[in-house]
Amino acid sequence: MRVLFIGDVFATPGMRAAQAYLGAVRHEYDFVIVNGENAAGGFGITRRHFEQLRSAGADVVTLGNHAFDQSEVVPLLEETPRLLRAANFPPGTPGLGWAAYDVPSGGRIVVAQLMGRVFMDPLDDPYRVVDAILEEVPSGVPVIVDFHAEATSEKKVMGYHLAGRVSAVLGTHTHVTTADEQVFKGTAYITDVGMTGVQGSSIGMAFEEVHTRFVTKLPAKYRPAAGQASVSAVAIELDGARAVAVTRLRWEHGDKDPE
Ligand SMILES: [Fe+2]
Repeated sequence: MRVLFIGDVFATPGMRAAQAYLGAVRHEYDFVIVNGENAAGGFGITRRHFEQLRSAGADVVTLGNHAFDQSEVVPLLEETPRLLRAANFPPGTPGLGWAAYDVPSGGRIVVAQLMGRVFMDPLDDPYRVVDAILEEVPSGVPVIVDFHAEATSEKKVMGYHLAGRVSAVLGTHTHVTTADEQVFKGTAYITDVGMTGVQGSSIGMAFEEVHTRFVTKLPAKYRPAAGQASVSAVAIELDGARAVAVTRLRWEHGDKDPE
């Protein structure tokens, strides 16, 4: 089974790039997961963005720390299992943190999202939460974990915690792709898939206002960067529930021949 995971889609340029990329490569994959937590101008996702990603071929869309920035996400999370917020939100939070899905080409797959707690808002323990999830997953079913976290050390340790127990641990949130993809004990791992958006930016936002805030300490409203975006993604090759390969992908929107 081939799984494509597209990293944090940021604002309109990222949406356009993700849609164009999926239009070109969707047929090469059995299952596609997209982190869409920055689709709405950097802050969460709307129904329109979710439906556009689904129409482009995303089987599941994951969120993160901006999950609830748009109020319309609450009814959306309650009506579809194809949009996931982190599983370690407190009990009673709307929506699902993980689910099992039918793969159109055959079999089942589980997608789970967890959030880190280092330099992030406090949440429930992601280790205990993922251990409880895995107790409910039948053996042999691939499990893809989106670990939305800030600190590289926390992500590496989650990779260690889940090595040999899930198919992939894919870091999101920092928007900067790391070059440490590997398969260890049948688990694909990367510290951060990177952002699908305008790379010449402050992780998706235009430089000017962010620069003003750092240099003068005066408030300045963030503004999504404009321009041509690129897609950051990873492809995972699975043999049953075991990963056999992970490939880091970068595609510039406008390229003729996406890999
Ligand atoms: Fe995030």
